[in-house]
Amino acid sequence: YIPLKELFKDHFFVGAAITPAHTDIRTPHGRTLVEHFNSVTAENVMKPDAIQRIKGTFTWTEADRIVQFAKENNMKVRGHTLTWHSQTPDWFFFDQTGALLSKDIALKQLEEHITAVMTRYRGMIDSWDVVNEALFDWDPDGQIIYREDSPWYKIIGESYIDSAFVYAHRADPDAKLFYNDYNSIFSWKRNKIFDLVKRLKDNNIPIHGIGLQGHWFVGTSVEDLRTTLELFRGLGVEIQITELDLSVYLSSNEPGSVVYTDEFNTRQRIAYPEIFRVLLDYSDAIAGVTFWGIGDDASWLDTPGRKHFPFLLNEQLQPKPAYFDVQRLLRR
Ligand code: G3I
Repeated sequence: YIPLKELFKDHFFVGAAITPAHTDIRTPHGRTLVEHFNSVTAENVMKPDAIQRIKGTFTWTEADRIVQFAKENNMKVRGHTLTWHSQTPDWFFFDQTGALLSKDIALKQLEEHITAVMTRYRGMIDSWDVVNEALFDWDPDGQIIYREDSPWYKIIGESYIDSAFVYAHRADPDAKLFYNDYNSIFSWKRNKIFDLVKRLKDNNIPIHGIGLQGHWFVGTSVEDLRTTLELFRGLGVEIQITELDLSVYLSSNEPGSVVYTDEFNTRQRIAYPEIFRVLLDYSDAIAGVTFWGIGDDASWLDTPGRKHFPFLLNEQLQPKPAYFDVQRLLRR
């Protein structure tokens, strides 16, 4: 086999979401990272609850380890994430009585957080997910645009998004600034993303890219992916697939298995090359593809009795048949 990063080197970088433990090159995960990937994302340790759990007390050790590993091995880093409703300590939003903070205080704390994190890693991060998952996920009529249960939205309204990008650009003018979301390829979400990014650009807010997370099932429509890439390319921003994992199930209703069956293998041998065919067709607009993990041994999707086997590398971190089908798209 040809390592993933070699395979795609003329098209896009290939990344993986990792934990700090994965950076030890004496371990199989560390070796696999260096062999196959030229970018990493911290799966959890750069989120607000990891870096500033207590107001004013910054914990850099784990994030530093990942950034240092990337530097030593010539890899890019995707920064994930600065402004999110989840994995963000309560003090960002509430006072001691549990009441929502004022707009001014919440914005000031956001600015301080973004400035501290981006200043520490200035020049070392390729792209930052400045705002994550701000849009409401299901609303076919398009009446509800934003995730209104986000405390950011409750306190500040939609302009917290604009502010976050302005703070981020000030802190590291060279980093590419991204809006990142899931279910982005589906009609009910992609138009909202388009409208948001268009509004930001029209208002001269510094935004440089859209992250499509890519938590997909084998039955996910590649036509939706194609339509979305076509639409977003028109915005003139960079596109990245930021959290790719392709569950072997057709949907969340299918009974779980802990065995990688022939059926699962067949499904991924069809779906994976279909997806990468489309990504290659749009590689002029796509800068990178990041998997949300390394191999099938571990995925955030897995629960007892139900493994998702979502990657191109198996539980032993070896290429699966679908890997060779993807490889065949590039080397005939
Ligand atoms: O923080 C505690 C830690 O103190 C404790 O030792 C540990 C023991 O179980 O639990 C820790 O928290 C867990 C955290 O991962 C770190 O391992 C949380 O319970 C768990 O919910 C959390 O899950 C993460 C999830 O985001 C939370 O939102 C997943 O690992 C991570 O893959 C997932 O990633 C998100 C992206 O950031 C955004 N897009 C969707 C994607 C998948 O949900």
